[in-house]
Amino acid sequence: MRSICPTGIDGFDQILDGGFLKNRAILLQGTAGTGKSTFALQFLVNGALKNDENGVLLALEYDKADLILDVNSFSWPLKELIDQKKIKVINLPGGLENPKEMDVDQLINYIYEQCTEINAKRLVIDSLNSIELIFSKSNNLRQDLMRFITLIGELDCTSMLLAEKYQNDKSEMYAFITHGVVNLYNLRMGSNRVRALEVIKMRGVNHSSLTHSMAIESGKGIVVLPHEIDISGLI
Ligand SMILES: Nc1ncnc2c1ncn2[C@@H]1O[C@H](COP(=O)(O)OP(=O)(O)OP(=O)(O)O)[C@@H](O)[C@H]1O
Ligand SMILES: [Mg+2]
Repeated sequence: MRSICPTGIDGFDQILDGGFLKNRAILLQGTAGTGKSTFALQFLVNGALKNDENGVLLALEYDKADLILDVNSFSWPLKELIDQKKIKVINLPGGLENPKEMDVDQLINYIYEQCTEINAKRLVIDSLNSIELIFSKSNNLRQDLMRFITLIGELDCTSMLLAEKYQNDKSEMYAFITHGVVNLYNLRMGSNRVRALEVIKMRGVNHSSLTHSMAIESGKGIVVLPHEIDISGLI
């Protein structure tokens, strides 16, 4: 039987026929400010609150204190969930300024240990672009990144890997080797900006093929709307 990992995000599970498949690695990509970090954190908060699934967030661009402040307007009990060890927000050894260089195995072991400590069933990597810097001594960055993503997919966690979207072959490689790909957009339409979300692929799931309108709302977070939005010509 299919084992589902609901995101708990209004409107999103419906277009995915219930949610992600458990233990899969999903790529969430978009340009700056499209809502990637918000979406992924909401996935962790909902997992802890509604599904009894603990979660680890590996943050490479911000620390726990900033994150708690940043999501204040969403009214999520993030601090309480962290205090209760249901969510763990981690940086790399060495901190944000001076993260320790690691090879793939060292990084995977570090993530595995952190997940084991709170029996995490959900994992977020924010972001793959920053992971590239950790492997800066690599002789074959592409191969190391592929191996890293493959090993993340083998952990006993449903994982979201966040990435800045570029028109380059690294973005394509990420999309190729992950089980699912979700694109977020924040586009100018006349004098407005519109947010949209599209499931590009989700192996084993009968998902919507529409581009859905999306909103980020105070007190709530991400909301995905059932209707289609026409963004042709904008991207
Ligand atoms: N309370 C709120 N109500 C509405 N929108 C909000 C609220 N808080 C944040 N936002 C929107 O969410 C955006 C930030 O989203 P987020 O940080 O998740 O994006 P991101 O894709 O992770 O960005 P980056 O590329 O910088 O990492 C803000 O720029 C703002 O437009
Ligand atoms: Mg972000």
